[in-house]
Amino acid sequence: MSVSERPSGAVAPGQVRAGAFDVGLLGHGTVGAAFAGLLAERAEAVERATGRRPRLSGTLTRSEGDFEQILASSEAIVELIGGVEPAREYLLRALRAGRHVVTANKQLLSHHGEELFQAAREGGAQLRFEAAVAGVVPVIRVLSESLAGAHVERVHGIVNGTTNFILTEMAGGASYEQALAEAQRQGYAEADPSEDVSGKDAAAKMAILARLAFGTPVHIDQVTYEGIERLQTDDLQYARELGLGLKLVGTAERRDGGLSVRVHPAFLYGDHPLASVGGPFNAVTVESEAITEITMSGPGAGGVQTASAVLGDLISTMLPPPAGWAGSNGWAGPNPPLPLVGDVPSAFYIHIELADRPGALAAVAQALGDQGASIKSVVQRGLGERARLVMVIHPLAESKLREALERIGELDFLRSTPRAIRVIEEEFT
Ligand SMILES: NC(=O)c1ccc[n+]([C@@H]2O[C@H](COP(=O)([O-])OP(=O)(O)OC[C@H]3O[C@@H](n4cnc5c(N)ncnc54)[C@H](OP(=O)(O)O)[C@@H]3O)[C@@H](O)[C@H]2O)c1
Repeated sequence: MSVSERPSGAVAPGQVRAGAFDVGLLGHGTVGAAFAGLLAERAEAVERATGRRPRLSGTLTRSEGDFEQILASSEAIVELIGGVEPAREYLLRALRAGRHVVTANKQLLSHHGEELFQAAREGGAQLRFEAAVAGVVPVIRVLSESLAGAHVERVHGIVNGTTNFILTEMAGGASYEQALAEAQRQGYAEADPSEDVSGKDAAAKMAILARLAFGTPVHIDQVTYEGIERLQTDDLQYARELGLGLKLVGTAERRDGGLSVRVHPAFLYGDHPLASVGGPFNAVTVESEAITEITMSGPGAGGVQTASAVLGDLISTMLPPPAGWAGSNGWAGPNPPLPLVGDVPSAFYIHIELADRPGALAAVAQALGDQGASIKSVVQRGLGERARLVMVIHPLAESKLREALERIGELDFLRSTPRAIRVIEEEFT
């Protein structure tokens, strides 16, 4: 970066100076407008904490502002546009020119994180993104700073508030369609909810968490994900009788010398730390031998809440970073990529609709047993032509479960395609 690219009055990384701290704001929507309001409201408190008074040097939307002018007149850029382009282009330019960047953009980070981290290193700038995962819950800071010395084994949690709200409504008896409509009415779901309900939003967040937890590049394309669109209210009701509640769970874990990063609906027992997280809340659990386990929870979205996380990051960029620090990217480049592991064993809940004939249960048990499955609990509901078998099996590789379900699906007394949902088996006391 050439010195002439720095804004007039800007300081080199590591230096502190008095006076105003100019912030360029890209995007003035739900979060951007809340951030602008919060910045004005908290400017004095921030000045007391950092010695510098933050102020907006310019705002860019689709209809107003000029990026070149904002870049030239700012020490830090706050990106709240969302999406990949033009946000990527703007942030690469800003970082390479030595401007600190604060962003809430999980899609951009999960697709182009390595390119952005590299640009931050080149420019000697900080890249911070607390608001990109779990809103105001400080999981990024905890993973990248507080737990930087821990050997993290697993990070898992509820990282999408929209789907958690929908599942909470469904647990109360609402259908998927009713729960989604209520989420839209209360502003928790967008008019087009596909990114949330398909699991893609959670997958982007899990890619970011995996990158930080394991210090290795993880792209969103390496995350397997499955959403909540096909869940049925009766599955939640039957599962409740087995002591289970349903959540959309993201997991990033070390496994067999590699990594598994995935998002899927999962049943949890009532004493699991994530089981009590209801409504639009998020929660993330970090596990490591040294720290045992830490669970953080709180509001996962909302303009004011997200803006608060953004302002926290901005304040960090106003303080002198240790030499070589590139924000949440840590001290250096990432470790080499780890192989991704598929076909992870899991316990499963299985729902089967069948005609109640002699030997029906035995035939289902045989098909499961042939694949090595062992049944933990089973409940039969109803009689005659539309009886239901609801069971939980002990952990089994997904490929084996699929084979067993295919066999069961071919039995002539079956009345609908069998459904299976993973169960997180650990019981917490
Ligand atoms: N909303 C939340 O609760 C929440 C929570 C966590 C993270 N986030 C993240 O925060 C970011 C912003 O979300 P949001 O909900 O505030 O979005 P939003 O309400 O849709 O606002 C987007 C803003 O960006 C501007 N913009 C869009 N395309 C642009 C372009 N090509 N050039 C310049 N400006 C452009 C829009 O301009 P106009 O005003 O002209 O339309 C608008 O001001 C996203 O990355 C999102 O994932 C949001």
